[in-house]
Amino acid sequence: MSRQTPVYYYSSASGVVRSFAERLGRPVFNLAERDVRHTEVDGPWVLLTPSYKTGNDRNDTIPEGVRRFLRSPVNRRRMVGVMGSGNRNFGRYYQMAARQIAEQSRRPVLFEFEIAGTPWDVQECARILAELDAALEADGHAPAA
Ligand SMILES: Cc1cc2nc3c(=O)[nH]c(=O)nc-3n(C[C@H](O)[C@H](O)[C@H](O)COP(=O)(O)O)c2cc1C
Repeated sequence: MSRQTPVYYYSSASGVVRSFAERLGRPVFNLAERDVRHTEVDGPWVLLTPSYKTGNDRNDTIPEGVRRFLRSPVNRRRMVGVMGSGNRNFGRYYQMAARQIAEQSRRPVLFEFEIAGTPWDVQECARILAELDAALEADGHAPAA
């Protein structure tokens, strides 16, 4: 079996994104936890972030836990893709955090869903990640354990 690319996600107290992440059937880590956001990854990984418009001047929507984790050059280099949870009611800010990070890091947006996601979203996201695992293994980035 190929290595399962871990997903590092941020989820607020509501835990909506955490619940989605935990249904993916692979290693997932919550960047809201201090111990997690102070680690460095040991291989390719994927980010899953909600967007949070705070109303500050810079229209920042990237959660602080995500920002901190991405301060590590090792983590930035090994990030292979970005996924987002958002809410279309936020209009032009929809998925802004995931899209901004993808653009700045020149990594693809692999999947986007609204709020908690549907069972189909979970299934589709799991499928995309399994394809990614296989592609990384074929590339020699992640030899079978
Ligand atoms: C205060 C607040 C601001 C938000 N801002 C945005 C936004 O700018 N863009 C967006 O797509 N979604 C926005 N959302 C929606 C959240 O990203 C979405 O509900 C997400 O699922 C929250 O996940 P969590 O509850 O696990 O942290 C916002 C939600 C809240 C409560």
